[in-house]
Amino acid sequence: MSLITSPRRYSLLLHSLVLSLLLSYSSVHVDGKKEKETLHRLPITGQADLVFKVGDNPCKVLKKYCKSLQPRFTYETCFSQLHPVAIQQLSQLWEKVRERLKVDETFFIDCEPIKYIGSSNGFSPGISVTAAPTTLNNGGSTATDTRNSSGIISEMLTYLKRAMAMDADALQTFNTRRNELKLTDSERYELYRKALLLLPNNLFVVDQFGLALMYIDYEAPARKLFSNAVSRGMWGNPLQRPVSKYVPGLTSLPWHDKTNYPFITRLESGYQDIKDELLSNLKERRHLFTEEAENLHVGGDWTELRLKSSGLGFLKHTEYFPKTMRHIENCGQDFTSIKFSAIQPGTHIRTHTGPTNERLRVHLTLIHNGGARIRVGTEWHTWEEGKAIIFDDSWEHEVIHTGDSIRAVLILDIWHPELPPSQRIVH
Ligand SMILES: *[C@@H]1O[C@H](CO)[C@@H](O)[C@H](O)[C@H]1NC(C)=O
Repeated sequence: MSLITSPRRYSLLLHSLVLSLLLSYSSVHVDGKKEKETLHRLPITGQADLVFKVGDNPCKVLKKYCKSLQPRFTYETCFSQLHPVAIQQLSQLWEKVRERLKVDETFFIDCEPIKYIGSSNGFSPGISVTAAPTTLNNGGSTATDTRNSSGIISEMLTYLKRAMAMDADALQTFNTRRNELKLTDSERYELYRKALLLLPNNLFVVDQFGLALMYIDYEAPARKLFSNAVSRGMWGNPLQRPVSKYVPGLTSLPWHDKTNYPFITRLESGYQDIKDELLSNLKERRHLFTEEAENLHVGGDWTELRLKSSGLGFLKHTEYFPKTMRHIENCGQDFTSIKFSAIQPGTHIRTHTGPTNERLRVHLTLIHNGGARIRVGTEWHTWEEGKAIIFDDSWEHEVIHTGDSIRAVLILDIWHPELPPSQRIVH
């Protein structure tokens, strides 16, 4: 077998590897010294086997192995190709040898162990989750002592595995159940850690695992995870992580200058009418406003009323908002979706990202008496009644409301102005 000479051929060889799992539980004595037990062996065609032993840090083993292949392959080529393969292999051993192999999230973040930096809820990664600890933030769920967290995690993993096998229904079920179950922070952490072992290059899974880390105050490892993902080419910026559709090449800014969007002046001129209609409907038709269902916020309360959905177009209850509809029409702008969004004091919409960078999001502020703020990227802004803001919600964002009265906005999505008309297709 000749030596592999190009990264491309190397890649082909890796993919055609006969990947076998070898487990050896025998201890070998060499010169009277007990050698570390081999737990996993990954044969690489034409090269020495990649061997993981008890107590090894798999990431360091991989790095050392890749260095040994230099200069035939660059370190980056070797690591980026072997890393996912090795993770997949090790994931199959996960439950059996987790303790002995010391496979943990450090394997895909970097080679250093995660340092516990303290958390208000006292949750420590690595704990086994059989029942949700009651001290944990449970995202408003109705968790009781009988909640079966391991059952929930294995159910969710099953859907995810089926989705990997191109089962669209399973993917749908996964998303529905994800919202229904209102995963606790520890469940979220465990689920996506396991999912990441199965799908190390999946945008959604990487994003969710990073967010799960952030929600338990593991900000630094989460940041490393996102930076690593960017260096692997998954996104263009660690703070901008659309998981459904990423269109490269569009000017990417967390905050946009509203003076570049002339329709916004016309929208702002309708502020008082729109606010009046919102207030009267909040009073007379409260039932139209529904609870946010994606388990994105903790504390407080977050309700929405949709006027236009990206898939269904304008909805029936636009009839209760005639003036609002007229002002929207006057904008002469194609809005892909439109909704009212109201949050009560005490609401924290935790860090998350929107699904795509092909749209921008406009907020027309209808009610705000102070105390609420929003971060997009690294920059915090606030709302001012009658004024609009415009940002790219594929950038990481979060909202904190510590004021003492409701904050309500009209949210309108527009196409990114640089997206060619032929690509303006709602999903
Ligand atoms: C929890 O779920 C697991 C996995 O589905 C199951 O094996 C176990 O019996 C369940 N435990 C309880 C107490 O229901």
